[in-house]
Amino acid sequence: MALSGEESSCLTCHGDTGARNRMVQGGYLKSQGASLLRDIANELRKPYNHPVLTVQGVHRQLEALPEEVVNAARHSECVDCHNPHVVEKGKPFRGMQGRRVGNLITEIENEYELCYRCHSESANLPGNSSDKHAEFKTTNPSFHPVEGEGKNTVVISLKEPYVAQKKRPNEVSQISCSDCHGSDDPAGPKGPHGSENQGLLVLNYQTDDERPESEQAYALCYKCHDRVSILSNESFPYHSLHIQGRMSGQDGTSCFTCHDAHGSTQYTNLIKFNENVVFENAAGKLKFDAQGYSARHGSCSLSCHGVEHDAKDY
Ligand code: HEC
Ligand code: HEC
Ligand code: HEC
Ligand code: HEC
Ligand code: HEC
Ligand code: HEC
Repeated sequence: MALSGEESSCLTCHGDTGARNRMVQGGYLKSQGASLLRDIANELRKPYNHPVLTVQGVHRQLEALPEEVVNAARHSECVDCHNPHVVEKGKPFRGMQGRRVGNLITEIENEYELCYRCHSESANLPGNSSDKHAEFKTTNPSFHPVEGEGKNTVVISLKEPYVAQKKRPNEVSQISCSDCHGSDDPAGPKGPHGSENQGLLVLNYQTDDERPESEQAYALCYKCHDRVSILSNESFPYHSLHIQGRMSGQDGTSCFTCHDAHGSTQYTNLIKFNENVVFENAAGKLKFDAQGYSARHGSCSLSCHGVEHDAKDY
């Protein structure tokens, strides 16, 4: 076995059936085990992936993550997310180091702690990438409930089993990165190895402006939020006008124009404007003012599709 920390020594058993059969023939793997193992290599070759196969020679044993060196190359190897010595079925992160608490480094308990090793305060985050811990903090004005339960008592569009606050055992009020990021194949191996969907997402999410609305366009959001509720304006009275547009959908816009899928450090309701589409109004203002959680009233000052809003309220 190579001690490089690269993936090749893992993909002999966690790759395609051909590789696995060779391990069985060599006597390194029982045929019973081989039939249980999934093809992770196939996932990693999909267009949106963790760069396990493409980045070589960057991982170092005993490296410190989050990265502290600004220009360090970005990487992710199997062993950055799994400890092959102690991993157990159903406990894929067993033995992985997480946060530092005083002088101690605790083991990872929640999946997001693993992700934060490279997607939070890493000094080498790419320019188009943001600190996910900063976005999911439960002290933010709004956040998807990954680190903890949300602040709302009711989020009207939620579908079963999702709820804003858990009261019964079968209800789900917290979600994980993997609920949104992972294989496009629902029967594929678990985990964010690769996907055919942009953003390494489990379902399609259209982020461009001026595209027609459909079940498929915003499939990711409609997995948990009822499409009918959103489009019949049960919460924001102008949802359908914006999402579907007026001219047979050609002037509709994405959820992404107004919402951030992770959290908002500025506003309630996951509002974060896509500033490639939304601009300051003539008075130089670009902001959202909400009136508290259950009020369902607020106002916007901005310019979008050439339409001016000056404290336009709902
Ligand atoms: C000789 C074959 C072999 C090699 C090489 C190998 N594994 Fe495994 N791995 C297994 C088997 C068998 C299981 C148990 C599968 C089961 O019970 O479904 C397993 C389980 C796992 C699991 C847990 C899966 C789960 O169901 O939660 C992870 C993660 C994993 N291996 C990662 C790795 C990594 C990373 C490497 C490379 C450093 C590696 N393995 C190398 C055979 C192998
Ligand atoms: C060891 C570092 C490392 C860890 C741990 C890690 N990632 Fe990544 N991730 C990367 C790198 C490197 C990329 C490539 C882009 C970049 O440099 O950010 C990436 C890219 C991504 C992308 C964007 C893919 C795309 O095509 O747009 C998503 C989504 C993602 N990671 C989610 C996660 C999640 C969820 C976890 C936790 C389960 C996680 N990552 C853990 C290093 C890591
Ligand atoms: C509710 C669904 C959802 C959850 C939960 C979620 N994401 Fe995402 N994520 C998205 C969507 C949608 C995109 C693509 C649009 C965008 O960039 O906001 C994305 C993009 C990303 C990207 C690429 C853009 C960038 O900033 O680098 C990374 C990395 C990422 N997510 C990491 C994570 C991590 C880590 C977690 C958990 C701590 C997580 N996500 C949880 C929906 C989600
Ligand atoms: C960026 C982090 C990351 C990288 C890199 C990564 N994995 Fe995973 N892997 C995960 C996560 C997260 C899960 C799923 C956890 C869950 O939801 O159960 C997972 C799950 C798995 C499973 C269990 C799949 C199943 O359906 O039971 C295996 C096996 C596995 N990984 C092997 C590998 C191998 C081998 C590599 C390298 C070739 C690798 N992983 C690279 C994060 C990663
Ligand atoms: C895996 C399930 C899941 C997915 C997928 C999902 N959400 Fe959510 N969403 C939730 C839950 C649970 C809450 C309730 C959180 C709370 O109590 O504040 C929520 C709350 C919200 C809120 C209200 C937040 C607040 O603080 O008022 C908005 C807005 C939202 N989601 C938008 C989206 C958008 C846009 C997408 C698609 C990119 C999406 N959601 C995908 C589960 C999900
Ligand atoms: C023009 C901006 C805009 C667009 C586009 C938009 N939203 Fe919203 N959305 C809002 C505002 C503003 C609120 C807050 C309403 C309130 O005050 O309660 C909201 C509230 C929500 C909520 C929380 C309340 C509820 O209905 O459960 C969810 C979930 C949500 N939006 C999902 C979506 C999804 C999914 C899409 C895309 C299909 C989308 N939004 C597109 C502006 C927008």
